This record gives sequence, C-alpha cells and structure tokens, in this order.
Amino acid sequence: MQSIIDKLTSTAAATRAEDLRAAFAADAQRFDRFSASLDDLLMDYSKCAVNEEIMALLEELCDAAGVAAKRDAMFSGEAINFTEGRAVLHTALRNRSNAPVLVDGHDVMADVNAVLAGMGTFAEGIRSGELRGATGKAITDVVNIGIGGSDLGPVMATLALAPFHDGPRLHFVSNVDGAHIGDTLKILSAETTLFIVASKTFTTIETMTNAQTARRFVAEALGEAAVGKHFAAVSTALDKVAAFGIDATRVFGFWDWVGGRYSIWSAIGLPLMIAVGKDDFGRFLDGGHSIDEHFRSAPFRQNLPMLLGAIGVYHRNVLGYQTRAILPYDQRLLRFPAYLQQLDMESNGKSVTIDGKPVAGGSGPVVWGEPGTNGQHAFYQLIHQGTSIIPAEFMIAANGFEPELRHQHELLIANCLAQSEALMKGRTLAEAKAQLTTKGMDEAQADFIAPHRVFSGNRPSITFVYDQLTPFALGRLIALYEHRVFVEGVLFRINSFDQWGVELGKELATGLLPVVEGKVAATGHDSSTAGLVGALAERKMG
Ligand code: F6P
Repeated sequence: MQSIIDKLTSTAAATRAEDLRAAFAADAQRFDRFSASLDDLLMDYSKCAVNEEIMALLEELCDAAGVAAKRDAMFSGEAINFTEGRAVLHTALRNRSNAPVLVDGHDVMADVNAVLAGMGTFAEGIRSGELRGATGKAITDVVNIGIGGSDLGPVMATLALAPFHDGPRLHFVSNVDGAHIGDTLKILSAETTLFIVASKTFTTIETMTNAQTARRFVAEALGEAAVGKHFAAVSTALDKVAAFGIDATRVFGFWDWVGGRYSIWSAIGLPLMIAVGKDDFGRFLDGGHSIDEHFRSAPFRQNLPMLLGAIGVYHRNVLGYQTRAILPYDQRLLRFPAYLQQLDMESNGKSVTIDGKPVAGGSGPVVWGEPGTNGQHAFYQLIHQGTSIIPAEFMIAANGFEPELRHQHELLIANCLAQSEALMKGRTLAEAKAQLTTKGMDEAQADFIAPHRVFSGNRPSITFVYDQLTPFALGRLIALYEHRVFVEGVLFRINSFDQWGVELGKELATGLLPVVEGKVAATGHDSSTAGLVGALAERKMG
C-alpha cells in the first residue's frame, strides 16, 4: 500500500501545480468525468484535485487494502470489531430484503423485525393517544434521555425531518449539567410527558443521573405508582433496565453488534419514530438499505461511499489536510455536522493499526461544520483565505418544503454553488487589482490593497445534490457517511468500531467525584488538578 501512497504523492505534486481552473478549462467533460450518482443523489467531486491517474491509483489503493473483502466481511456478520470480539451489523437493522444475516450461526433478522414491530406498536400507540399517562391524559411531549450515539442520531434526524413530524413534541436531554434537564422539565407537565431512557449499556453516568432526576419529577408530581406509564427504555442491557423499574413491555432492545454511533437505525430511533410515524421511519430505513446495496455492488467509479472514502484519505494522507468541513445548505441538517463528528471522530480517531503498530500516515481528520449560509458569515473567511486548506463537503436539495418561499431556496442554491466555485477558482492578483481600478482606485492604492483581495483558489470541495430531504434521502445520506468512515478506516488500517479513547476521562471523573464533593483529599492528583479542585471549592456558593 505504501508504494501506492508514494505514487499518489508524486502524482499529486504534479496535479497540485496544475490549477483546477486550468483543469476545467482544458476538459469540458470534467464534471461528467468526476461525478457519480445513485438515483437522484449526485456526488460532484470534480472540484477536487484529481485526474484519471489519481482516481486509478485510489482504486488500486482500495484494492490493495482489501476494502471490498472487508466490506463483505462486515455485511456477513464476521467479528470485525476484533478488540471487542463483536460483529458490526447496523446494516442488518435496515436490511429491508430480509435476506438472512448470521451472527454465530443465528439469523438476526427475526429479532430485528420483532423489535421494529414492537417499536411500531408503541410509537403508534403514543401518537394516537391509545397509550396515555397515568392520569389518562394523552402524551404531548417525549423526552429522550441519552448521550453520544443514544442522543445525536435522534436529535439530528428529528430536526432534519421536521416537515414529517406529526407526533408529540420531542425534547432531548444529554448533558449531565443539571441545566439541561432543569431547563427541559421547567416547561413540561409530568402528566403528559413520556421519558425514554436510551442507553446501550445502561450504565452511562450522564444518562443514569438524568433518568433518576426525571423519575423523581414524575414520582413527586404524580406518585410512585405513576412512574411506569411515563417511562420507556432502549438498551442492550435488559437486566439493568429491569432493575431501574421500567416495565418489560416498554423496553426495546438491541444488540452488542450495533455500535452506539451506528444505532439510529435500531430502537434508539424510537423518538424519531414517535415523531414521524412508523411508515416514514420505514422509508428512512429503506434509504439506508439502498446505500448498502449500492456500496456492495457498484464499481469503484460509481460507488459513492468508496469514492468519498478514497478521496477523504487522499486529502488526509496524501495532501495532508487535517480537517474537513461539513457544510449542509439545509437548515434542518443543523446537527448533521455534530452527528458526523461522533460517527467519524469516535470511529477513526485512532493511532494504532490493526496490528497494534503506530499508524504511519494520518488517521481520521477533525470533522466540523455548520449549515450554510450561516457559516459564510462566520468561518468561511478562513476556508477561502486562511493558511490551512480545508476540504469542504456541501450538500443541497433541489427543493425545500416551502414552495411559497421558492425564491429563498434559489438564493440558498446560488450561495451553495457560489462557494464551491469561489473555492475552486479563487481570484488572482491581477483580477483583484483590475476590480479595484475599474471602481476608480488609483494604481498605487490598488497595488497596496489588491493582495488582501486575492483568493488562492484550488481549494477542494465535494457537492452532494438530491431532490429533497425526505426520510429516504436522510437515511441514504447517513448510510453513505457511515460507509465512507468504514472505507477510510480500512485504508488507515485501524479498527473503526471500538472507542477506548473515551474511557480514561470517564474513569478519572469517577475518581474525582468524591474529591469534588469534599469527601476525599486531592492527594495523588497533579498540582493543576488539585489546584482547580481547590479553586472551585473556594468559589462554591451556598
Ligand atoms: O462516549 C462513549 C460512548 O460509549 C459512545 O460510543 C456511546 O454512543 C455513548 O457513550 C453512550 O453510551 P450508552 O448508549 O451506552 O449510554
């Protein structure tokens, strides 16, 4: 693989010297050549510094790394998460073909379909008012209590699918900061509120603490006996849920072969299903499944997750770009960058290869972003003129959900396309100067000011275009990025499916709690930590 990376590096050096503007000028077919589609979903990567030679080398790289074989191993239920001895089968959760998927010889599809059916009955019961609170009132508000993968997916997807939201209001509480649940409970009535405690492990301190606070809220308002009618749970740890006291008929399970950050397709998606209904949730699963089929069968140059992953690694490991910006031109994808942060950074933020050796090149980049056009008025300055090159990934629907505001959607589209064009084209010194002199500035002043108005151009971006942000389209987008992370993980030669990096801080927090509470002295801690404990104790009020 190293020899292919070396070839890519030397080829890229030549390609970078060649201006992207020149590449477009020289080849009227560049867009057709370097774009690919799945139905209405188009991926345009022609504004990246690629050519036929680089694409051929990236395909060779994927072949040498065995991406296709590893993909097939994932889909077939092999325990590819070898550090935890687990299969990785979020794809089974959206396997709408119902073709058998075996884990240790057991076909999991019957279990998957049984939980989905149970969720459907419960969700429709809450939506229709058939399932009510303890005092007989219909549920108007649902609070999901979870964090990380047990929060980010439902939060992101519920907002994304707002036009389809016809169920009770949804709220999400994740942070252990009492401000989060405090502010949420303030506006709710226990009588009409359902709490969903969502935790794969059912041990996560933030979730368990918030769940206890919610439990007290219900018990104090309606009495202990009412609690059962106001709680449901989603977990793989059914014994722990039972110990918390949630009735088995209101517990929706999933399995250790579903990673937290890949769990939106499982019972973790229950709040989304309550919001949009089981049929639209089914369409969301259909969208994910369509990408799975595509990922498994399309040749490299038509395979969107393969292309996205290969270009991601090209940017990270060949061109050395440290971050990538996710820039949806879709206000309802507000939380999509945060969702991808967990998906990508918790999966590929690793320094050790599958052989336990240090990663030689880079591994996962820093992922960040905000919807456009807001980002344009905040951080795009740096993307256009800063000293770091930041590959940008734009996404835009051809249609919004506000036909009466079509002109606003057209303005949105124009802005999105203008940004990628500006990043690619830039503005030369001569052009900058000419602009100033045309406006009447004298030569000397124009020479002085023009350098500040130069855009280097040649800055890479990928643009995704789709019809409209429907449940199907959202499912497709998420699954596309999941498989991109997979492809990149294989090329980085890491295990994308564990997350040991979050453990140390959790362990230390547990040890620090009695110190913060003043029950134990800060001995054994470094002077900074001990000093900060002391500073906070001195400032404690009441
Ligand atoms: O932050 C680590 C992590 O384990 C994530 O991977 C996971 O999504 C999150 O915590 C929540 O875990 P759980 O669903 O078990 O409460």
